[in-house]
Amino acid sequence: MYNNWYLSYDEELTNNNYITPKRCSEALEKYLFNKQGDILDLGCGTGLSGKEIISKGFNQVDGTDFSEKMLQEADSKKIYRNLFLHDLNSDVYNFDNKYDAIVAAGVISPNHAKPKALKNCIEFIKPNGLIIFSLNDHAYNDLDFLGKIHSIIDDYNLKIIEKKYGDHLSKISLKSWIYVVKK
Ligand SMILES: C[S@@+](CC[C@H](N)C(=O)[O-])C[C@H]1O[C@@H](n2cnc3c(N)ncnc32)[C@H](O)[C@@H]1O
Repeated sequence: MYNNWYLSYDEELTNNNYITPKRCSEALEKYLFNKQGDILDLGCGTGLSGKEIISKGFNQVDGTDFSEKMLQEADSKKIYRNLFLHDLNSDVYNFDNKYDAIVAAGVISPNHAKPKALKNCIEFIKPNGLIIFSLNDHAYNDLDFLGKIHSIIDDYNLKIIEKKYGDHLSKISLKSWIYVVKK
């Protein structure tokens, strides 16, 4: 799907007032004070989320996605330090870096990355590092999905330091929760 969508993705999402990346970057700015911190934009897509992160003054931002075309589009924005291909639903994660924060805007959902992606990222977060992710109304209202997310948070002793409801795609009245979770 995303390998065909990459060309019109930015325009379509912008036209529908896609707010979640901005809200994630605001949360990042609020809780990560080191602008040189290592950040991973998980499921970075074409780089809309990375653009918002960079706009807050962070400049060590890597991105990953499982769509080569989305990554090519992200690369053309020249904002990422490294971009790499990775399927978040795979069982083996071999990231090269550890991160001060991992940001997943619009990525963890029943149709995209499964809850286990959250679990698999934990070892790549530095001590006291953050994971900031959104769950849109569809994901949040799927009680099985939500239950798995919260089980991972509990089982790995992660701490929810903020959880806020707000606009996701405001043109179609879809909202999302932004979780800020500390390792
Ligand atoms: C709604 S887009 C969000 C992209 C970007 N974070 C943004 O806010 O614009 C979802 C992204 O997740 C990626 N994605 C979906 N499932 C994935 C998976 N299993 N592994 C890696 N990336 C995935 C898609 O390719 C797409 O780029």
